[in-house]
Amino acid sequence: MLSRPVHPRGHELTAAATYLGDPHPLYAQLRAEEPISWVEDPGFWAVTTHAGVTRVSLHPEEFCSARGILVEEIGRHYDFPPTMMHTDAPAHTRYRRLVQPGFKPSMVKLLRDQVTATATALLDDLSVDEPVDLVSALSVPFPLQVIAALLGADVDEWETFFEWSEVSIPGASDLPAEVQQAKQLEMWEYLSALAGARRAHPKDDLVSAIATATIDGDLLSEAELAMFLIQLLVAGNETTRNLLSGGILALAERPEQWELLRAQPDLRPRAIEEMLRWTTPVTSFLRTALTTTHLGDTTISEGDPVLMVYASANLDEAAFGPTASSFDITRSPNPHVSFGVGNHFCLGAALARMEADVILEGLSHKAPTLSVAGTIERSPSTIINGIRRAELQLGSA
Ligand code: HEM
Repeated sequence: MLSRPVHPRGHELTAAATYLGDPHPLYAQLRAEEPISWVEDPGFWAVTTHAGVTRVSLHPEEFCSARGILVEEIGRHYDFPPTMMHTDAPAHTRYRRLVQPGFKPSMVKLLRDQVTATATALLDDLSVDEPVDLVSALSVPFPLQVIAALLGADVDEWETFFEWSEVSIPGASDLPAEVQQAKQLEMWEYLSALAGARRAHPKDDLVSAIATATIDGDLLSEAELAMFLIQLLVAGNETTRNLLSGGILALAERPEQWELLRAQPDLRPRAIEEMLRWTTPVTSFLRTALTTTHLGDTTISEGDPVLMVYASANLDEAAFGPTASSFDITRSPNPHVSFGVGNHFCLGAALARMEADVILEGLSHKAPTLSVAGTIERSPSTIINGIRRAELQLGSA
């Protein structure tokens, strides 16, 4: 049996309390002292450097996704993958070929007017006379309404989608387990019925595109279709929501950066990449070693789970230089790993970037100044870097 380097604080990576506070000092200590360390309970390697995360992600032939992508999923075997993220080639390649065309930047561009209308309606309602909770007023409804419209579902049902999405992410919902299960079933039934209806009578929407797409004459099965739609609903909103909440909060905490962004709107693309790096909405994802291999000098045994801590990689001075721990909207280059790296690179990246762009554009007209006006309540989720409440004061023009 090989001896495995254990760091005395490694177990804190799976503790909710870590994420209710500031996990950055923990990441810095792990990167400096034991960048590839074994966490005994439940047993996985934590990889905290940018080079390590990139190396694992870029080698799916050594580190697979099909045996779970979360710490909670270690040891599971799936007869049917819960999402396409839980698949490897060749199944993954087939799924990707089917759905990727719908998410290309050129397709996403076509949605901009519709997304802008959604953003404008929400931004118009934000008060400038008193503090607003950015999360409930903007970050929650916006991506849900966008994804509902994109799926061709009823946009007025976004609050139901919100509940469904919350129960799909471990630790995000406070509801009792049996209520969570019932809601997951409800979501499955709704989306299966929607997909079935679009397959029978296609419309001009993403569900119809996925329901009728074929590869080598093959349609997706009913179960595959529902799996896809659930993933799009969940992946498309928790993440974008927290990019917006955390990113706008970072700007509100730094008035000079907000002023700079308003003065130089062409900095928006860079600002969005920095918001992605800074917030890292998905804290980490997992792989399982298919073979005995090495990460640096560390031997990884076949079957070992490996956690890629994106949130730590994004603060690694070896990749981002001495300013890694500062929020800087002019940062370039910015090789953040917030959308993952390699063959599972986020399918919705162009959409998420466009949503953030539309919001920053609208907000910079609406609010010449932004400041923190009250409570910032963080989520205890170990997977999503979540903010549940952020009271900001918007200064009017
Ligand atoms: C700020 C927003 C977002 C972040 C930070 C984010 C993050 C990620 C990450 C880290 C992965 C990699 C998974 C892996 O390597 O195992 C991923 C994959 C994925 N994302 Fe996103 N995501 C965001 C928005 C979206 C949106 C808007 C959608 C769709 C509407 C979406 C759909 C997906 C899908 C389908 C995959 C799986 C791709 C595959 O397995 O090939 N994401 N995302």
